[in-house]
Amino acid sequence: MGIKADRRLRVFSGIQFSGTLHIGNYLGAIRQWVAVQVECENYFCIVDMHAITIPQDPVLLRRKTRELAALYLACGLDPLQSTIFVQSHVRAHAECCWILNCVTPVGWLERMTQYKAKSQAQESVLAGLLDYPVLQAADILLYDSDQVPVGEDQKQHVELARDIAQRFNRIYGETFVVPEPVLPKSGARIRALNDPEHKMAKSQAHIAGHAVCLVDEPDAIRRTVRRAVTDTGREIAFGDAPEKAGVNNLLEIYELFTGQERAAIEAHFAGQGYAALKRDVAEAIIEGLRPIRERYARLIEDHAELDRLLALGAARARAVAEPKVEEVKHKVGFLSGDEG
Ligand code: TYM
Repeated sequence: MGIKADRRLRVFSGIQFSGTLHIGNYLGAIRQWVAVQVECENYFCIVDMHAITIPQDPVLLRRKTRELAALYLACGLDPLQSTIFVQSHVRAHAECCWILNCVTPVGWLERMTQYKAKSQAQESVLAGLLDYPVLQAADILLYDSDQVPVGEDQKQHVELARDIAQRFNRIYGETFVVPEPVLPKSGARIRALNDPEHKMAKSQAHIAGHAVCLVDEPDAIRRTVRRAVTDTGREIAFGDAPEKAGVNNLLEIYELFTGQERAAIEAHFAGQGYAALKRDVAEAIIEGLRPIRERYARLIEDHAELDRLLALGAARARAVAEPKVEEVKHKVGFLSGDEG
């Protein structure tokens, strides 16, 4: 289904700056983006309009937007190969979101697990929070995206974008490509180090022991990993038994940062205790993040260069999103505002 012309595979994904980026964001999402960027046509967005569905300090939001841009680059996204841009710089996202709102039943939105979780924590729930996944659908659909590489927690939102695309296409005729969520085989759900029953979350990343953040200093990483919750057993092996979730999580992190096979990892830790596991995991993370931390420190100094790259990205994104939103407006029956 959809209208795939003869072109390179299109990939779209994004991150919301609601806290500090952690290794879950990197292993679940950004690493996949870097891996596909040479062969695909990529759009990687900094979703500032999503960020304000939770009240934000305007000064901080501007700063965090640049920080996220620097992190994208530090993680290996290349502005020559990928279009890196800020969502609010491309007006088509808001316009398309409004139109998609008008084909999306509220019941679909109320069923979203992230909405249920986030709205429970609020005294008064903002309309934007309920509407959040429709804006996400607009992000994805505007670029005729074939694939959306995300961690497990975003799969439901991408599936909703598929439903919205299919419904729009049924009502107004073939318009949108129906996108596929793409999850990594390993690392789609990195768990909180202090609570392996739950995912590592940006909103909790400030809590000591919860997460390793991408720009953490080596000693902070060692401290965090040393206090990771494991279990009372001794076995160090991959597996999905609930009581071994903490150990499995550490092993997955080790696997992803070292690139070693699972059998070799289990052999390496055979006969060793959890203290050794934590020591080696911490060192693997430190080595893996070292180039990111170093590049980030340089990139964040140069605001003018970051702004220049984001302006370039916005121009490239607009060149795709603006004609698409015009097509959508025409399909729903809006009169063209152009003369003649
Ligand atoms: P966000 O900012 O919460 O997360 C960014 C990416 O990181 C992944 N992720 C994880 N992966 C593995 N383990 C974890 N513990 C973990 N935590 C987060 C997420 O799955 C995601 O891929 N709504 C989106 C942003 C967005 C978007 C889009 C994504 C807006 N528009 C269009 C894709 C396409 C969000 O808040 O992700």
